[in-house]
Amino acid sequence: MALPKISLVGAGQIGGTMALLASLSKLGQVQVIDIAGDMAKGKALDLDQAGAVLGFEGNLRGGESYADLKGSDVVIVTAGIPRKPGMSRDDLLEINAKVIAGVGREIKAHAPDAFVIVVTNPLDAMVWVMQQASGLPAQKVVGMAGILDSSRFRFFLSEALGVSMKDIHTMVLGGHGDAMVPLLKFTTVNGIPLQHFIDQGHLSSADLDAMVERTRKGGGEIVSLLKNGSAFYAPAASALEMAQAYLYDEKRLLPCAALCQGEYGVKDIYVGVPVVLGKTGVEKIVELPLDKAEKEAFATSVAGVEGLVQSVSQYL
Ligand code: APR
Repeated sequence: MALPKISLVGAGQIGGTMALLASLSKLGQVQVIDIAGDMAKGKALDLDQAGAVLGFEGNLRGGESYADLKGSDVVIVTAGIPRKPGMSRDDLLEINAKVIAGVGREIKAHAPDAFVIVVTNPLDAMVWVMQQASGLPAQKVVGMAGILDSSRFRFFLSEALGVSMKDIHTMVLGGHGDAMVPLLKFTTVNGIPLQHFIDQGHLSSADLDAMVERTRKGGGEIVSLLKNGSAFYAPAASALEMAQAYLYDEKRLLPCAALCQGEYGVKDIYVGVPVVLGKTGVEKIVELPLDKAEKEAFATSVAGVEGLVQSVSQYL
């Protein structure tokens, strides 16, 4: 049976990691595209040869031409630049908006039926640019951030509680920036609310606050450790989880950047919300009741995204 075609635009740290993970899990036939000369070709060839040892039949393709997007079921976009220590995601706005607008036009020309996942930062504004430039239906254009942010929070909680990450479920809403909103009341350990662990003395409120703050700044923590580039393993795994949900019609309920059209009081911008992902893309946006503090935090986060979106429209 022919595997679905997954095209990765950007063959850098995240793109290369996704190519490996998608090949290992046999999620699809991988096409890598990058403007950096023969780099994508080189990575595809290296991975093909890794298949001999790791047990997958390579068949990866790599190159510079966007015409190779043709026939893609999923396109995952990491093209652009990552931040350096001291930079915020928003500092990447101008350079990456131009890149994403260009890639969006190429997707429109060569893969208008694909499901498109954007990973490039600043995420929420970049997905908006992608949807505008590609003209694809909003339900087929999403951004990856919430799964990554949630995975960070799950890891910190798992360490603090001494419980497997598998059993920790959480939801992080809002823009993919330091103002994101981890939702504590929807965070459970296999259905048991976090408050129970605080009441039982397994976790202090101060420790929890510190973990929320560390989650918000989780990307920056990795940037300052790596010194040259940003996180790539967890972003790669998170984007592929979304691709899989679409390709296999899994109806996963996941936090993703989706175009809100009135949901959560947000109009016409992309922001992180819980969505159901299935074979038509974003099948539903799930609205959760937020308390006063969460609403305020969400509004602050959304206002930040709105400001960025206003300034990127000039690059379309
Ligand atoms: N078309 C295709 N590829 C491009 C283009 C373009 N127009 N512009 C840049 N690229 C490629 C670069 O050549 C580079 O190989 O995008 C790749 C980006 O890879 P890295 O620099 O390694 O960045 P990475 O860590 O993968 O992050 C990519 O995702 O999480 C975000 O903030 C991160 O914006 C960054 C993006």
